[in-house]
Amino acid sequence: MRRVDSVGVTAAAETSGGGLPPFYVAQGSECELFQHCHEKSLPLLIKGPTGCGKTRFVEHMAARLRRPLITVSCHDDLSAADLVGRHLIGRAETVWADGPLTRAVREGAILYLDEVVEARKDTTVVLHPLADDRRILPIERTGELLVAPPEFMLVMSYNPGYQNLLKGLKPSTRQRFVALALDYPSAAVEQAILAQEGGASAALATQLVQLAQALRRLTEHDLEETVSTRLLVMAARLVVSGLGLRPACRAAIVDTLTDDADTASALDEVVAAVVGDGD
Ligand SMILES: Nc1ncnc2c1ncn2[C@@H]1O[C@H](COP(=O)(O)OP(=O)(O)OP(=O)(O)O)[C@@H](O)[C@H]1O
Ligand SMILES: [Mg+2]
Repeated sequence: MRRVDSVGVTAAAETSGGGLPPFYVAQGSECELFQHCHEKSLPLLIKGPTGCGKTRFVEHMAARLRRPLITVSCHDDLSAADLVGRHLIGRAETVWADGPLTRAVREGAILYLDEVVEARKDTTVVLHPLADDRRILPIERTGELLVAPPEFMLVMSYNPGYQNLLKGLKPSTRQRFVALALDYPSAAVEQAILAQEGGASAALATQLVQLAQALRRLTEHDLEETVSTRLLVMAARLVVSGLGLRPACRAAIVDTLTDDADTASALDEVVAAVVGDGD
């Protein structure tokens, strides 16, 4: 039986570890923590709200550590076979195709499971022998037993805000990981991000971050999540492109955060109070 190198059954993306690391401004000492985890072959669980920089952070660290990064976007149909691999029936023979998890173990890559709570619990159990001291991946269907090289690292992320009672991680999965909580960055860090990522002037970056802080303080509206750094970057880009600040904030922030007309006008009032007419 032949083995083929990759299988197109999951939303897995691979990036190489070469080149300049993607731009990332640290919120605190998360880069050191990641480095220590990699050094000691410890798996890492990153939690934080949408658009706070989790994915960018992992991409940045993989490039800094010069390791290939394999990313899997988890969903509720993701099966253990999608991660580990499966037999494919060819014209003449059956071939084994590694899934992204198996490939990452063979290559000593960083495997990043994005939004891991979306995956079924029985799927995440396949990670257990890899995530504890054994660091092995038994592949039942081929009879192989892979031992992970020291450079292999397992990283998962999730957004605790979306958790419901049925989802969440099994304690036995969680307790195999070192945890890192990220949040929206401090004002100075967020301004630096807007300057670099959104091309914002110092004045625009200051205004957008003030607006974000005012919106994040709002508690009386039933918003699922508040304004993220990602939305601020989008607003900055619209303004740099020539759109007025008010319409940019309406399009990139207010109307993205809510579908409710009353809530939208309340958010719009906050925008007006912070940025004025804004053009
Ligand atoms: N610390 C940071 N340094 C540089 N850019 C950042 C940082 N935080 C956020 N960004 C910007 O915000 C965008 C969104 O970040 P990212 O995609 O990493 O968020 P996320 O936490 O993975 O969100 P989600 O949970 O929705 O996947 C990035 O594309 C980048 O432009
Ligand atoms: Mg992400």
